[in-house]
Amino acid sequence: MYTSSGPVDASVESKAGSVKGRTALVTGGASGLGEAYVRALVKAGAHVVIADRDEQAGSKLQNELSDSTTFVRCDVLSWKEQLAAFKKAIEVTGSIDIVMANAGIATNDQVFYNDISRDEPEEPDLPVLKVNIIGVVLTAKLAMWYFEKQNAGENKRDRCLILKSSMAGYLDLHGAPQYSCSKFAVRGFMRALRQQAALGNQIRVNLIAPWYVKTPILSGAMDTFITKSGAGFAKAADAAAALLCIVSNDSIQGRALAIVPRDWEGASNGYVDLNQDDFEDSPWMHRAQEYALKPAKYAMTSTDSEGNPLKTAPRQD
Ligand SMILES: NC(=O)c1ccc[n+]([C@@H]2O[C@H](COP(=O)([O-])OP(=O)(O)OC[C@H]3O[C@@H](n4cnc5c(N)ncnc54)[C@H](O)[C@@H]3O)[C@@H](O)[C@H]2O)c1
Repeated sequence: MYTSSGPVDASVESKAGSVKGRTALVTGGASGLGEAYVRALVKAGAHVVIADRDEQAGSKLQNELSDSTTFVRCDVLSWKEQLAAFKKAIEVTGSIDIVMANAGIATNDQVFYNDISRDEPEEPDLPVLKVNIIGVVLTAKLAMWYFEKQNAGENKRDRCLILKSSMAGYLDLHGAPQYSCSKFAVRGFMRALRQQAALGNQIRVNLIAPWYVKTPILSGAMDTFITKSGAGFAKAADAAAALLCIVSNDSIQGRALAIVPRDWEGASNGYVDLNQDDFEDSPWMHRAQEYALKPAKYAMTSTDSEGNPLKTAPRQD
């Protein structure tokens, strides 16, 4: 079972050298935050597979960073294309150690838009739910498969999956129902994954939840509203530092780091442990959580009909 090791001390520097020689795969790595992760990982000595649907931006970044990166054109909604990206990482370096499930979109959202002059409601498009949830779930499925397979063999070592949520997964927002829903979903998914990862084999799962960062995902109008309202921006470089902190400290498991403006309390490095997913301040929820895990704990310490220990979590089948 996952047990909380308490909040990450965000003032601690990442361990130099621990990323050197490792292979990372970053979805949506051709732009914005993804690009910042790619650059930081390369600088720290990793080889990075950039898996992005934007061929032009991905190839440009690969050309600039040359031998340290491999670009694979990949739509995260395609299992086949994501699988090909993971296979490419193994083909080029023989290993996959770090996976950053970063690709995501924000678009005009039709869910709350109602044209009541019409006779009937229109079915909304749901692209944000698809990319931000299904895309991430497929990336995580592949990461866990490759991590487990590699760690079952001789090449056993620390392997880390990082999911991209947002502060929209923790706060109320206006006007982006799919986006909020998708980022809360990723947060819930991390809870399930950290339980799975805790079954052993040196696999870790953590989450990054940025505040607003100036990248192409923000429309010009949003950029103006954020600037003029004084809501403030976090920095892509600080998100990259938070990623290096997570991947280089193998004790960090099941945590969510927020990327926030540096003038926020406790965020002198631009990131803080959100500490919202363990219910330490709510004895009632803490107890409910303990009870929620009781059936799995019971199953894992039970025996089968021949008296062999099950040692495995129950599945819903
Ligand atoms: N910038 C912010 O304010 C902010 C805040 C919180 C969370 N985030 C999250 O960070 C992640 C990266 O966003 P960003 O700000 O860097 O935006 P961005 O638009 O600069 O980058 C997103 C990248 O993802 C790629 N991408 C989009 N859909 C894809 C798909 N289906 N398959 C493969 N690649 C795809 C794009 O081509 C692009 O390279 C997203 O998940 C976003 O929701 C961003």
